Amino acid sequence: MTQRRKWTAIPGLLLLAIGAVVLSAYSGASSSQGFGPDQPIKFPHPRHAGPVAKGGLGMNCLYCHNSANKSADVGMPAVNTCMGCHAAVVGSTDQMKAEIKKIAQYADYANGGKNAKPIPWVRIHKVPEYVHFPHVRHVNAGVTCQTCHGQVQGMTKVYQYSSLNMGWCINCHVNGYDPKEGQKAAGYDSVPPASYAAGVPFGTPGSFAGIMTTGVTPATSASGSASQKSGMPGAVHLAATPSSERRRARYDCAACHY
Ligand code: HEC
Ligand code: HEC
Ligand code: HEC
Ligand code: HEC
Ligand code: HEC
Repeated sequence: MTQRRKWTAIPGLLLLAIGAVVLSAYSGASSSQGFGPDQPIKFPHPRHAGPVAKGGLGMNCLYCHNSANKSADVGMPAVNTCMGCHAAVVGSTDQMKAEIKKIAQYADYANGGKNAKPIPWVRIHKVPEYVHFPHVRHVNAGVTCQTCHGQVQGMTKVYQYSSLNMGWCINCHVNGYDPKEGQKAAGYDSVPPASYAAGVPFGTPGSFAGIMTTGVTPATSASGSASQKSGMPGAVHLAATPSSERRRARYDCAACHY
């Protein structure tokens, strides 16, 4: 091999190496899929965000994760968000009382909050530092939380539902997000029951409405919404969104890596 040929081989090899790395990023299951660690307080999403018909409070996700529609990071609720209720709600069983008492300890209510500490929740979902993931862009484009996180309102303990690998991101960006699929994934009914007359638009954050009651026949479904008339309470029966109406997004490298 001449000196010159040797050098021309290098870009080729480099490209191969980069290709292999990208391929592994593209298809490799992120090691933390399914990861669901114990938390410092046994916080049950179903009790708070689950449907009222199943004993939940039907709270909107944004009540606690209130920057998901405003910034790149979602963040965890401040301890005072919990105390807004738990200063009064102390729990009805010994187990509940023990867990709820921990909130007041972090909030340091006994000393007027002088030594208040944030609750050290164990982070579950995390993309590497070199990846740019803006929650706000997704949430404002109407991508439901559950499309990516699964039906958290039913998880006694939150775990990582999606792989979060590069192929997973790009798949949706290229093929597009189907709002009807997203609605179905959410487990929320997009069609208000006929008797819904709370005076707030159905499903508005904070209105506690719009939570599907799969498997439960809610009192409000007597006259039924379109989707509930189909026999399976809460089931969403809709045709797939035509390809042209799907929400697509950029998939050039710089969109997610800069
Ligand atoms: C009452 C407040 C509250 C509400 C309402 C709430 N969450 Fe949470 N969420 C928390 C707390 C506290 C944690 C951390 C403890 C845990 O993992 O359970 C958490 C954790 C999570 C996590 C895992 C975060 C991580 O570390 O990766 C996801 C995802 C999540 N919530 C999504 C949702 C979705 C989706 C909804 C609506 C269906 C929702 N949450 C409603 C308080 C809330
Ligand atoms: C809108 C009011 C409200 C907010 C805000 C709220 N909770 Fe609750 N929480 C409740 C109610 C109501 C119960 C049920 C109490 C009962 O049945 O005695 C409860 C129950 C609990 C329990 C015991 C549940 C069980 O089944 O063991 C824990 C733990 C808890 N909450 C933690 C939290 C934490 C942590 C936050 C803040 C991230 C929070 N809550 C925010 C209203 C709220
Ligand atoms: C398009 C997919 C997607 C959607 C939609 C989405 N998330 Fe996430 N979420 C992610 C990814 C990816 C991460 C990890 C982000 C990171 O590491 O920067 C994450 C992280 C989180 C975390 C942990 C963040 C932290 O600061 O500890 C919470 C909580 C969360 N999401 C809640 C929500 C809620 C609530 C919604 C709906 C309002 C939502 N997500 C919508 C993909 C999504
Ligand atoms: C379920 C579909 C879906 C998944 C999964 C998804 N996205 Fe998106 N993404 C979207 C949509 C829809 C938009 C909004 C495009 C718009 O605003 O018009 C978007 C926008 C973005 C943007 C802004 C692009 C711009 O125009 O500047 C970035 C960056 C991004 N996503 C990164 C990611 C990353 C990183 C992941 C994986 C961790 C991911 N997305 C997973 C659907 C998805
Ligand atoms: C829609 C968002 C998105 C786009 C577009 C994207 N990536 Fe990625 N990329 C990711 C995510 C998310 C990861 C982290 C994967 C993981 O943690 O498993 C990643 C990881 C990587 C890695 C690290 C691999 C490793 O194993 O350490 C490389 C290299 C990479 N991407 C290259 C590229 C190149 C080159 C392009 C353009 C062809 C591109 N990416 C486009 C989201 C994206």
